[in-house]
Amino acid sequence: MMTVDGLDGAEAVVSGGGSGIGAAVVRLLERSGANVHVADLSGDPPVDVTDRGTLDALASRIRADHGGLDVLVNAAGILTQNLPVDDMPADDFRRNYEVNVIGTVNACQAFGPLLRARCGAVVNVASQAALVSLPQQAAYTAAKGAVTALTRSLAIDWAEHGVRANAVAPGFTLTPMTAAFFENEDFTRAATRRIPLGRILDADEVAAAIVFLASPLASAITGIVLPVDGGWTAGEPALPW
Ligand SMILES: NC(=O)c1ccc[n+]([C@@H]2O[C@H](COP(=O)([O-])OP(=O)(O)OC[C@H]3O[C@@H](n4cnc5c(N)ncnc54)[C@H](O)[C@@H]3O)[C@@H](O)[C@H]2O)c1
Repeated sequence: MMTVDGLDGAEAVVSGGGSGIGAAVVRLLERSGANVHVADLSGDPPVDVTDRGTLDALASRIRADHGGLDVLVNAAGILTQNLPVDDMPADDFRRNYEVNVIGTVNACQAFGPLLRARCGAVVNVASQAALVSLPQQAAYTAAKGAVTALTRSLAIDWAEHGVRANAVAPGFTLTPMTAAFFENEDFTRAATRRIPLGRILDADEVAAAIVFLASPLASAITGIVLPVDGGWTAGEPALPW
């Protein structure tokens, strides 16, 4: 079983840790010796990243019990309906921004003092859509683009406190968020053909990159957006010359 060095005894928060990529991050952090707090709508107690009060309550408990935080992974996210940009309701833009961007800001602000106490690390989950647009996903794409810009701002503002901030940009990964897409054989065939490695990714593969960036192995890395996408953003796969 894979583990990541340098996380034994670390204190970690994973938003969206109840499902998919976030849940895979929780498993890998725990195997690596970290004590993980899940911040998810489905958690007990539920945490809503759009509700600063629920994040502050978790931060207070961690401060009282552990005094600081080594790792914050922001994996909570939503994906709204596919529509051409002309037809996309403003509310879809608002919902994507509210959860994917402001939810990330809320968590960074709530846990920032605890991260500073331990010179911790933040990893945000963006998307390949932030780097190469997906059709009919303007609201999600714009929000994930904001997550990558936000990550660079965090890296710069928090560098003086010794806190690192990075993002991963996952490609198509089989999770509850995307399962319905992959039930469509035409979609799966087209997506797979477009991915140079020729396959849909597993959540554990994305988690490995996230936990690496969160760990002391990445101590010199801050402000990057790491594609974890099977080559999607590198370019088109082979052409029939
Ligand atoms: N699956 C993919 O192909 C893929 C690709 C690129 C990026 N991503 C991103 O990865 C992240 C995780 O996605 P996933 O595929 O694991 O999805 P998922 O739906 O399996 O998991 C998302 C989790 O976030 C939680 N969540 C949603 N809104 C929340 C809120 N307001 N407060 C707290 N928790 C909330 C959900 O309860 C769920 O447990 C998302 O940010 C997503 O945009 C996924």
